[in-house]
Amino acid sequence: MDKVIIFDTTLRDGEQTPGAALNIEEKLEIAQQLERLGVDVIEAGFPISSSGDFEAVRRIAREVRRPTICALAHANAEAVDRAWEALHGAQKPRIHVFLSSSDIHLVHQLKKSRGEMLELARDMVARAKSYTPDVEFSPMDATRSDPAFIYQILQAVIEAGATTVNIPDTVGYTMPGEFSRFIKSVFQEVPNIDRAVVSVHCHNDLGLAVANSLAAIEAGARQVECTINGLGERAGNAALEEIVMSLATRKDLYNLTTGIDTAQIYRTSRLVSEVLGFGVQPNKAIVGANAFRHASGIHQDGVLKERTTYEIIDPKAVGVTGQSIVLGKLSGRHGLKRRLEELGYKLSDEDHDRVYLAFKELADKKREVLDRDLEAIVGEEMRSFTEVYHLDHLQVSCGDKSVPTATVRLISPTGQVLEDATLGTGPVDAVYKAINRLVGVPNNLIEFSVQAATEGIDAIGEVTVRIEGDGKTFMGRGASTDIIVASAKAYMHALNRLLTAREADKKPK
Ligand code: KIV
Ligand code: ZN
Repeated sequence: MDKVIIFDTTLRDGEQTPGAALNIEEKLEIAQQLERLGVDVIEAGFPISSSGDFEAVRRIAREVRRPTICALAHANAEAVDRAWEALHGAQKPRIHVFLSSSDIHLVHQLKKSRGEMLELARDMVARAKSYTPDVEFSPMDATRSDPAFIYQILQAVIEAGATTVNIPDTVGYTMPGEFSRFIKSVFQEVPNIDRAVVSVHCHNDLGLAVANSLAAIEAGARQVECTINGLGERAGNAALEEIVMSLATRKDLYNLTTGIDTAQIYRTSRLVSEVLGFGVQPNKAIVGANAFRHASGIHQDGVLKERTTYEIIDPKAVGVTGQSIVLGKLSGRHGLKRRLEELGYKLSDEDHDRVYLAFKELADKKREVLDRDLEAIVGEEMRSFTEVYHLDHLQVSCGDKSVPTATVRLISPTGQVLEDATLGTGPVDAVYKAINRLVGVPNNLIEFSVQAATEGIDAIGEVTVRIEGDGKTFMGRGASTDIIVASAKAYMHALNRLLTAREADKKPK
């Protein structure tokens, strides 16, 4: 059966989601999970854009061996060279060169003629080809470009060595029928198209990214560029999980396969959501909390009699497992280990010990520990970040007739005990003011959100914050049954990341 190549760009276009910022360890963790998921290509970053991106691509290229690792470069000699510098340790390296092709971009942004664009595209593909046989080219804003010019560009870049030609709907402008006709025309009008894989890259500005990608596949495209949870610039990119499950569920229609292990989808979605700090909307297809919940009595009755009456996908197929064991305070290490393994976590003995202690602490407070609680615990205990300041103690007093007061004790990087107490407009404000006085790092809190991991009054509260400091954005997360403690942990997480980035920037490159 014909195969569709799944090109994941969560670490590149997904990281262009406003407010997203990942450190190298986090990118590596996501890349390793994408490898388990079975994606064919990981676009790991845009090396010329920052030293952090360069280093992340370099690490992923060395440590993630099965998929092709791709680095993005705009059509510029230095960018192509830098992409190769980051990639050359990869088992299967790919350089992805892009350049705008629409008159809107050429006239207003690049101030280049079509002829200049064509020459530059050809030269930069040839340059990339001198480094690696696997070269992709994207005429940016292709769907708003003159189709005749696109055919000309594709022919030229294939001649120069491109092995994948990608048609980006950069601003999410096209419609499914129209895009399908465009892709078909590419096969008819580009004489050497049989020497390259035709790929598509759809944005979701009109909510059509997945529909357009599927229309392109029907028209013959055999690579789709997509992201986990549909993250990406503006309204995002086509969601990987939706494309893969559409192809799997409607195999009767498409007769196509992918290399994706669909049982890893839910786990990957959770990881990306946790690490990037962007929750998944409850009604999101495939991975939303309500995707397999049935509220109406008629639907419940049908599903209880025969699951397929109202479910087109078996939740287990995407890794949403039923609660087979209820964990509580009497559950032992083995029960916890088994449940974590069922959820897709493979922890070292040392990590398991830490998670087990946190689980016991929670089980003392909560009658039943559910999967989402376990995910919150693992997220909290395992997230790799350097702790510069440690939150040692927190006490808060508040109420409708009192002024919120917080006492905070931190341990500094040199082991010094730092303590302060402050008043605030609310308990979280008081805590954050006390922490700020102790750490002394100027920053702005730009986002604060709190969410219950599960239903019930004893649920774990998950707090996500974003702060701005040193001209960058840093995300922090904290989880606890006490939301003030979760808020303090989230803030400390973000501040520690800011301090770690500051130290890294000071090091000679
Ligand atoms: O949306 C776009 O056009 C892109 C290109 C770099 C492929 O992300
Ligand atoms: Zn894009």
